[in-house]
Amino acid sequence: QATPGPRHLLSIGDLTPNEFTTLVRNAAARKQVVKEGQPPVWLTTGLSNKTVAMMFSKRSTRTRVSTEAAVTLLGGHPMFLGRDDIQLGVSLLNPVNESLYDTSVVISSMTSCMVARVGPHSDVANLAEHSTVPVINALSDDFHPLQIIADFLTIHETFPSSSGPGLGLNGLKVAWIGDSNNVLFDLATACVKMGVDISVASPKGYGIPDPMRHVITSAANGVDSPGKLSETTVPEEAIRDADILVTDTWISMGQEDEKRKRLDAFAGYQITNELAKRGGAKEGWKFMHCLPRHPEEVADEVFYSPRSLVFPEAENRLWAAVAALEGFVVNKGNI
Ligand code: CP
Ligand code: NVA
Repeated sequence: QATPGPRHLLSIGDLTPNEFTTLVRNAAARKQVVKEGQPPVWLTTGLSNKTVAMMFSKRSTRTRVSTEAAVTLLGGHPMFLGRDDIQLGVSLLNPVNESLYDTSVVISSMTSCMVARVGPHSDVANLAEHSTVPVINALSDDFHPLQIIADFLTIHETFPSSSGPGLGLNGLKVAWIGDSNNVLFDLATACVKMGVDISVASPKGYGIPDPMRHVITSAANGVDSPGKLSETTVPEEAIRDADILVTDTWISMGQEDEKRKRLDAFAGYQITNELAKRGGAKEGWKFMHCLPRHPEEVADEVFYSPRSLVFPEAENRLWAAVAALEGFVVNKGNI
């Protein structure tokens, strides 16, 4: 009988609500114990003698630094492989064009995990299909699971759970104002699973594509009181009664050629204090952004204000990476 393959983390959809909750709670617990200066030996040796390959075909600050730092904390060796470092790829700079299949088989034969940042989601899915070790998606055109574990850690810290299942966040409302992109798709999936309502405002033509809406709403299957997804083209409508306003760049990596068109299409979507007031956000509303930030999607008055959670949110990427590596590599997917 063939042994089952390793478990991968390609999107938040791969996690049950309980598993997602455990990863967020573990991230919080590891953060506390490391900050107190007494990390237990089982934590700091979890990856000892193990190498984690980090295959990044796009730029990164947070994902790279948090993953390298997390592997180091767990006692392992992070091996960063940029797009021009290995034979994988089809770019003009890299005419060797080794296939994803060959790359996956070879790298997984020598390492304990592949963390991959790619363009098309099928690239990371293909790596996973042929890998003998866990693959963790470090951002694809469709999903960004590590970001969303960090985001829910940030929400959990800011809105401490009262009671109830999961993280006790039922009834909270998130408003996403901007492009319907990879970060939104996993955020919305997590919101549905965690009982957090999410309202999305994107300009016409930049809303959630039908197949992705199906992925997000299917996250409600088997959940007692799932969060509700609503969509509009009017930012004020999405903002009404929101606890958290969230956005991301209007021009994701790979969309640089569309910059002019996108800046025009998103005019009026910048998050400002005035927009939040006009829309009727809750009095104590908070602001989140995965970063990197560009000035057009959020005004400085919000981004650098006490409402802004962006820097704790960025730091939480480290604790999310620790929890994910522990869950998928050290504990082999038994979360
Ligand atoms: N939020 C995020 O993934 O940032 P980087 O692109 O800098 O990794
Ligand atoms: N949506 C952005 C997120 C970057 C972390 C992008 O894909 O470029």
